[in-house]
Amino acid sequence: MQKDRIILGISGSIAAYKACDVASSLVKLGFDVVVVATAAALEFAPARALRALVGKEVIVFDSARGTREETYGILEPLVSDALVYAIVPASANTIAHIAHKQEKSAVDMCALLAEQYHIPKLYAPAMNTYMYTHPATQENLALLKAAGWICVEPVEGRLACKDEGTGKLAPVAAIVDAISVVSCKTRDLQGKTVVVSAGPTQEALDPVRYITNHSSGTMGFEVARRAAARGAYVVLISGPSALSTPFGVMRVDVTSAHEMFLAVQTHAQSADIIIMSAAVADFTPREQAHDKLKKDTFGEVGQQPSILLKPTQDILAWLGKSRMSHQRLVGFAMETKDLVKNAQAKLERKHADLIVANNLRDEGAGFGTQTNRVTFISKEAVQELPLMDKRDVADAIFNELLYNTPLVK
Ligand code: CTP
Repeated sequence: MQKDRIILGISGSIAAYKACDVASSLVKLGFDVVVVATAAALEFAPARALRALVGKEVIVFDSARGTREETYGILEPLVSDALVYAIVPASANTIAHIAHKQEKSAVDMCALLAEQYHIPKLYAPAMNTYMYTHPATQENLALLKAAGWICVEPVEGRLACKDEGTGKLAPVAAIVDAISVVSCKTRDLQGKTVVVSAGPTQEALDPVRYITNHSSGTMGFEVARRAAARGAYVVLISGPSALSTPFGVMRVDVTSAHEMFLAVQTHAQSADIIIMSAAVADFTPREQAHDKLKKDTFGEVGQQPSILLKPTQDILAWLGKSRMSHQRLVGFAMETKDLVKNAQAKLERKHADLIVANNLRDEGAGFGTQTNRVTFISKEAVQELPLMDKRDVADAIFNELLYNTPLVK
């Protein structure tokens, strides 16, 4: 089977060396990566390194070696059926060429071909702040936007020229994320709104202390990422998490179970699919102290200190009761024993369509890992899935909801 092709254009910015990491990540995701570069780019990203990473020669336009037509002859069949054309980094110069339809390098030529063949086009600018904010560059960026180019915005930071400001290439992970979202061929969630909750909640005892759990948010963030890639409008309601927001996802940050409940209530109204992957605290301190609690508030020395708790709102159960008939509802269950029995009870008690259950004690499953071994529990079936990347678990959830089967590859 032919692998899906991504054309990676590299232009001459110091950040070009980071394109090696982008190329490598895309290869790891299973894409066939074709690299085209400007001559200046290869000063910062060596052709030998790129060749080793993607397994083929880097394509450049060199008038001493071949004509323009010959280079187009090589590029056209590659670009015409590529999933996406991504320029990382896009220098001010290359942006200007593309905006004005000039073709001075193989990178510019691919831009014209991508426009001609209606291939999704993406670019990640990187340049000095002065150049980035210059009206001429801003005008060029506006022209690219009008032509349908998706921008992975540069970030603020210390630049290679030692200036501080905007113009630094977006993080590699964010660029790879954007490329995989844009290149996703399956758009079966187009037109749907998916609300996903993720991460832990923090239940404050006083201004300095809180009760929480080990959830990192990885599973929920993957669910949001895949939903966006498959075309959904995604609202990710996240408890405190260090993870960065997946490309194209609208993120709502919350702290406590109560805040999460309020956010879910607000967004559930427009949702077609709601996936509660957050590890919501079941209990919260009965009172939240205004000032820091002193040691002696917990009782006399020698006595057993205690914290009084009250239950939180079970958000999934609330959704189960108040949902609209077209809405699909998915919950998670993390168990340490009697997985199927406990998860079946949750399915019923919370009126969900699907419970994704996992055993904390399974190797490769649980908190902070990139993989998970889950069992899908619905009214109709109990399906044990193999150990999978959380990204694939996310896809399996949507496959199950849309096609009644988790694995459709
Ligand atoms: N959940 C929720 N609101 C809560 C607690 C949990 O919406 N206050 C959701 C979780 O997001 C998850 C599912 O309910 O989708 C399962 O959570 P879990 O805590 O395992 O279920 P409980 O009903 O609390 O069962 P137990 O603690 O007895 O295992």
